[in-house]
Amino acid sequence: MRKPFIAGNWKMNTTAESSVALVNALKAAVKDVTTVDIAVVPPFVYLAAVAKAAAGSNIAVGAQDVYFEGNGAFTGEISCDMLKDVGCKYVIIGHSERRHVIGEKDDLINKKVLAALKAGLKPILCVGELLAEREAGKTAAVVTEQTTRCLAGVAADQLLNVTIAYEPVWAIGTGRNATPDQAQEVHVMIRKLVAKLYSQELADKLRIQYGGSAKPANAAELIGQKDVDGLLVGGASLKADDFAEMIKAAQ
Ligand code: PGA
Repeated sequence: MRKPFIAGNWKMNTTAESSVALVNALKAAVKDVTTVDIAVVPPFVYLAAVAKAAAGSNIAVGAQDVYFEGNGAFTGEISCDMLKDVGCKYVIIGHSERRHVIGEKDDLINKKVLAALKAGLKPILCVGELLAEREAGKTAAVVTEQTTRCLAGVAADQLLNVTIAYEPVWAIGTGRNATPDQAQEVHVMIRKLVAKLYSQELADKLRIQYGGSAKPANAAELIGQKDVDGLLVGGASLKADDFAEMIKAAQ
């Protein structure tokens, strides 16, 4: 059985004060949850404070991005070791906003995945098609290519430290979530691809989250799909009550 994993990506939101208040409120709301892995993913500058507030609780902390080099002259970038140093367990890599707003490509994303694994961080690797790609019937091709390229060089014994997040770009922040059937269809496709790239056994154990306008009203139905193993939540993770409700829906 795959343990559900719910992560809240705060994106470029919160303040020094509200980030700590948010994790403290969430801590109280989900303190009895043991059957779901939970993570919050604040902006870099609040990671240390949020990790300190979450220490000893059932809430892990992740970062929204990372750079693949170890250290040196890379102005503005953050290394895997720095993330670990401030208490991160997870790191989101290849989020659609990094792909489509900042311009990251699969080869860079792949380098980040490999560096994170090597450093002992757990990547949440995001894949997903644009609306035009879905309408052109290219969803499977796009998701297959992204997944294959971004996992290149990941060894079999590293794979289960990765979570894949299927996030159709047209569903992110739009209020228009994929239907549970649409999510399930792509999750099955990704799992079959992983079985082909690795093995059926690893594919059966790999967690695949859905992301894109997930909210309390649709969480149970999405997680209820056989191959949807959790959620990567944006907007709805900024309200402790809403996010806690979604975590409880996964119990
Ligand atoms: P959303 O974002 O829940 O606000 O649509 C999801 C994500 O980008 O991970």
